Amino acid sequence: MSGMRPILDMNAFREGDSSSAAVSRRLRNVGAASVLFYREPIEMVGATGATMIARDGTRYLDFYNNVPSVGHTHPKVVEAVQRQIATLNTNTRYLVDIVDRYLDALKSQLPAHLGNVIMTCSGSEANDLALRVARAATGGTGVVVSQAAYHGNTALTTDVSPSALKAMPLPDWVVAVAPPGPAQYGQDVADGFAQAVGGAIATLKDRGHAPAALLMDSIFSSDGVFADPPGGLAKAADVMRAAGGLVIADEVQPGFGRTGSHFWGFARHGLQPDIVTMGKPMGNGFPMAAMAAQPDHLAAFCSDVGYFNTFGGNPVAAAAGLAVLEVIHQEGLMENAHEVGAALIAGLRDIGHQSAQVGDVRGAGLFIGLDLIEQDSGTADPAFTVRVIDAMRDEGVMIGAAGREGATLKIRPPLCLTRDEADRFLAAFQRALDRLAAPKN
Ligand SMILES: Cc1ncc(COP(=O)(O)O)c(C=O)c1O
Repeated sequence: MSGMRPILDMNAFREGDSSSAAVSRRLRNVGAASVLFYREPIEMVGATGATMIARDGTRYLDFYNNVPSVGHTHPKVVEAVQRQIATLNTNTRYLVDIVDRYLDALKSQLPAHLGNVIMTCSGSEANDLALRVARAATGGTGVVVSQAAYHGNTALTTDVSPSALKAMPLPDWVVAVAPPGPAQYGQDVADGFAQAVGGAIATLKDRGHAPAALLMDSIFSSDGVFADPPGGLAKAADVMRAAGGLVIADEVQPGFGRTGSHFWGFARHGLQPDIVTMGKPMGNGFPMAAMAAQPDHLAAFCSDVGYFNTFGGNPVAAAAGLAVLEVIHQEGLMENAHEVGAALIAGLRDIGHQSAQVGDVRGAGLFIGLDLIEQDSGTADPAFTVRVIDAMRDEGVMIGAAGREGATLKIRPPLCLTRDEADRFLAAFQRALDRLAAPKN
């Protein structure tokens, strides 16, 4: 897609930038598929809470990683994984109590109609399965996604991930629509987005594809973070359902309390999705993911094809997942995301009022997007964004970019972030801007 920065190209190391032995070794091992952050990649040796520790002793505040969501190396998750791996770890073709305890606990967080949960090892696998289930349940093939969506790395999920495609066009069974924001749709975002989805469905039908699904990351992370207005996705969901397709909520990014007010991003929008997929924060770093679906939809899929996942839903994953759920509740991490996230957004907006190069600041809980813009034109400034990311690294803060042009800072620290850490981040951001950016006249 023209004008689109592939998500993996943002803030990426490029061959030739560094001559370090560790980088050369990685490039020899991984070759063209290597994806390292920063011009001079960081070698990490440890982590705790919201801090990562590099080989040279530098302690970085982690504002990038939403996987260790309850905090890096959280002792309760570590202990649960250690205990279970020393007891039993096997595939899912046996009855193992902890697996069903986990599934029951997870289902208690989900809408009641999503009665079946299939565990996988990655969000990609979960979305791949979701698309196949949607196709089997509806008989349709077409899929509507957002313009800079990322939904995974399998063949099928790459096809529905415009931000993963470098030179390839989207296949004809996929239509992408702009993410739901006022700049894209004007003041009635919900209506504009619904109309765009309606238009996409019409395009699919013209191409001979009945719609199978509207697939949405309800925080639109790779599109550049579009959280508002709460409830703004419901009309679009209705349009897809009326056309015979399902609504798939990809909760890989916003799920597990990150948006502060609700456990799931879709719940913030009052949505009742037909399928929910999840991953990243689910095991706090232990690789696990899942798809939750209605029993009749899953049965339609399973009547045609068998599905088995050797590692998905293994007892160690269940132990990690249970510990994560317990920690989120016991430590009030959703509430913390709400409070500390609100303080961060307010602080960032204050800083933005003084800087001609900070544009819109938006988000929910501890998932925030901040647009960096050119001083004169007010347009997206990807080159400046890279400079800010590098300056933040010099300040000891790790942060990444998102958005169609790669000019939105993606602010996504662990949910255990303290007010003090948030303040340290704001001070570092202010210093970075003072060094790089133009003040507002
Ligand atoms: C919204 C979304 N869905 C799915 C995925 C794929 O998950 P995984 O990398 O675990 O396969 C990602 C990964 O970044 C994602 O951001």
